[in-house]
This record gives sequence, C-alpha cells and structure tokens, in this order.
Amino acid sequence: MKKFREDFLWGGAISANQTEGAWNLDGKGVSVPDMCTNGSHEAPKRITTSFEPGTLYPSHEAVGFYHHYKKDIALMAEMGFKTLRLSIAWTRIFPTGMEAEPNEKGLDFYDKVFDECIKYGIEPLVTISHYEMPYALVEKCNGWEGRECIDYFVNYCKVIFERYKNKVKYWLTFNEINSGTARVGSLLSLGTVKGYNGPISEIPDNLQARFQALHHQFIASAKVIKIAHDSYPHFKMGNMIVFITMYPFTCNPDDIISTQQKMQIQNWFCSDVQVRGEYPSYMDRFFEENNINIKMEAGDEEVLKKGTVDFYTFSYYMTNCVSVDKNLPTSSGNIVGGIKNPYLEASDWGWQIDPKGLRYTLNEIYGRYQIPVMVVENGLGAYDEIDEDGMIQDYYRIDYLRTHIKEMYEAVQDGVDLMGYTPWGCIDLVSATSGEMAKRYGFIYVEKYDDGTGSLARRKKESFFWYKRVIASNGEKLN
Ligand code: BG6
Repeated sequence: MKKFREDFLWGGAISANQTEGAWNLDGKGVSVPDMCTNGSHEAPKRITTSFEPGTLYPSHEAVGFYHHYKKDIALMAEMGFKTLRLSIAWTRIFPTGMEAEPNEKGLDFYDKVFDECIKYGIEPLVTISHYEMPYALVEKCNGWEGRECIDYFVNYCKVIFERYKNKVKYWLTFNEINSGTARVGSLLSLGTVKGYNGPISEIPDNLQARFQALHHQFIASAKVIKIAHDSYPHFKMGNMIVFITMYPFTCNPDDIISTQQKMQIQNWFCSDVQVRGEYPSYMDRFFEENNINIKMEAGDEEVLKKGTVDFYTFSYYMTNCVSVDKNLPTSSGNIVGGIKNPYLEASDWGWQIDPKGLRYTLNEIYGRYQIPVMVVENGLGAYDEIDEDGMIQDYYRIDYLRTHIKEMYEAVQDGVDLMGYTPWGCIDLVSATSGEMAKRYGFIYVEKYDDGTGSLARRKKESFFWYKRVIASNGEKLN
C-alpha cells in the first residue's frame, strides 16, 4: 500500500493582502485589494477608485501578520508545519510596480519572515502574485491588459529570486491564474478594472481584455520560470489553478458536452498552457465564437514553450454540476457557481462539500500531466464561536479536513504523485471574495471582526490540536 511520501509537505496557506495589514507602512504602495471595501455573503465587497472616508477597507489591518508574524509562525511550528505557503506583496517591494529600485524595507520584512520559518524547519512556498497587483498599474495600463506589466513583473521576480535564493526553493507564479477566465477575475487577478467604482459582482465584462490580460500573465510566468531554471537550478517552479470540478447533471449528451467545454475553458486551458507550453487547440473555437483576438508578439510561442512548470498546484473547495436545463436550482461556489448537486451538503456560504471530488480531481490532473501535484488550498469557511471555556470547538472543520485528507490518501493509492497539502487560511484571515472576517478557515482564531474591531489576539481552535496529530502521524491518525 502506498502512503503519503516521507517528505510530504504538510502545512497551511495564507496570502499577504489577507493577513499582513500594515498596508501603507515602511514604503508599501497601494494594491488592488487595498482599494476594496468589506462586504458580506449578501452584499458584495466593492472596489473604489479613491478611499471613502468612514468606509472599512479590511486589508489595511487584516489580521496584523506584519506585526505578529513571529508569534504566528511559532504557532504553525507547534502544529508541526513542514511548509508555509505565503505570498509576497508586490507593492512592498515595488510600491507602484514601476520603480527602478526596490524598497529595501519591504525586502527586509520577507527576509525576516523566511528566517523565522527556516528557524523552525518550515519550508517557505511562495506565491509571487496572490491577487494583489499594484493599483498604480491598474490606473496606468488597465492592469494585465497592458503588455508592459510583463516587464514590471519580470523585474520584480528578478529582485526577489536573487534576494531569497538561499531561503526559498518553491515558487508559484500566479495564484489561481484561471480565475481570469471568469468575470470576477478582472478584479481579483487581472486588474482590468481601470476607473471602475462599484461592487465586485457588477464589473462590466470585457472578454477581449480578460483573455489578452491572461496571455500577458502566461508570458510573464513563462519568462520568470525560464530565468529561474537558467539561473537558479535548485528552484522548483509551480503554477496555481482554482480547480472547480464540474459534473454533468445528467447523462444527457448535451450535459456531457457542456460540462466538457466548461472544464476545458475554466479548468484546463491555463494549465495546458503552463504545463505543456502551448495554447490548446480547443481554444481556437472559443476565441472565434466570442470574437476574441489574442495579440501575440513574435517570440511569444517560444517563450511559452521554454517556461513550463515543474509541478502543478491547485485550490479545491467544492464542486458543481452543469446542465443545459436552465430551470434547475443553483449553488454558489468559489469564483463560479453552478447547478446544485442533490447528493452533497453545502457550507454556510453555499459551497458544496465534496471530499470524493478531490480524489477524482487529483486523478484527472495527474492523469493529464504526470507531474507532481500539490493541494495548496482547501478548507471550510465557517462561523466559529468562542465557548464559555474560551475554546473554539470546530468539529465541523475537522470533519471537512479529515474527509478530504482521506480522499487524498485514496488518490495516492491510485498512483497520484502528491507532494503536499496546505489548507487555506491556517490562521483566520480576510475573505478574498466577500472581505469578511466571519468566514473563518483557521486552526488559529484571530479576535478580529467584520466591523474592523478586535484585539487581534490569537487562540488555538480544537482543529489546531487535531491537525498537529495528523502531521505527526504523516496523515495516518485522522481522528
Ligand atoms: C481562493 C483564494 O480562491 O479561495 C484565496 O486563493 C481565498 O485568496 C480562498 O481566500 C477562499 O475564498 P474566500 O472568498 O472564502 O476568501
């Protein structure tokens, strides 16, 4: 029987803009999430073109990781983390993205964070861009629609590669790059929201701009992967996909074809480019039918070919169904929703919980690419209560994680080469889509609330002690 690898990377995942706060300290510039207000499940968060007095911008303080990182990493070490997936805020290093010289104080902060990880034997796994592009680049060139972003990004990567070459080995270029295939990606990942002031749910859509912007991200990603492979051969470079597994609602062939098309465009397209080094042929028809004309420059195809990833990573929270019947009940989900699956329960936010879907997804991914795979986000966003003894009895979260780990184990038996597992929001953080604090994922509770108040004190949840046992047994003791 196969088991989890001996060097399995157990850990957790966070991002800079959702945890650090200190949004304008020590020379940091303004990023897209810094311009976003809080929201809720019912009322979506908004992006504003200038700061509104009296409005809460959750990333500005977030959960204070910038000041609490030593304590937080110590808690992660206590759980036995082998890795911490975290991101570098581009705007700490290049405040507008366009400076000639980096900001030394920003570089110094991540030196200290990585040193703290290394002190405990925690391997940093760094997302280079996690939904936090400099807002100045939105204003200058409509975010990634502007081809000049490629050079700015390459420059940023050259600086951080050289600076952290002895501290960081694992890198992911863009968080959930395929979120750009969905409308909400214009704000989250592409920054194609120049001049837009309003809710995240109502951003005017522009397919041409989105797919052109994605092309620029592909080129940027491939260029920096080539630089890494040429100059830092010990680096391992990965992609990162938000995998929204979709099942046909029925065996009606129309449902099957519709599912296949959605799987291609939303889930496979970006990784086909990043793993295989070329645009897949099924995109031609999609581009033609949607009047999308990708402007490629001479040499782009070569760049894509030479900048493929070493490993594949993805986030997995839920699954959805697809049907051609427009009258079926729908469910919400991460980045995109779909048709409700009558066999599944859903989280408080309506995301359908599907542990077996993770086994299925791992098999699909590994079967397609045969390169090492890692689950770099997974978890249950839920309301947590502190009881009279000061404890947070989050058995619902333990149950979610346990059932998913069991299915990962099945996938390993199925032959999938699984490198590691970093549940999302290992410490409570600001929700990316709604800006809430109430939607908590952590093993570590943070006293911070939706209205922006809270002492920022940390508490260990019940899941903290459970996950520590899981890691200590290399995934064998799940109870
Ligand atoms: C992923 C993102 O899409 O899902 C994270 O990479 C995000 O940044 C996570 O926080 C969970 O989504 P949400 O909306 O619950 O924060």
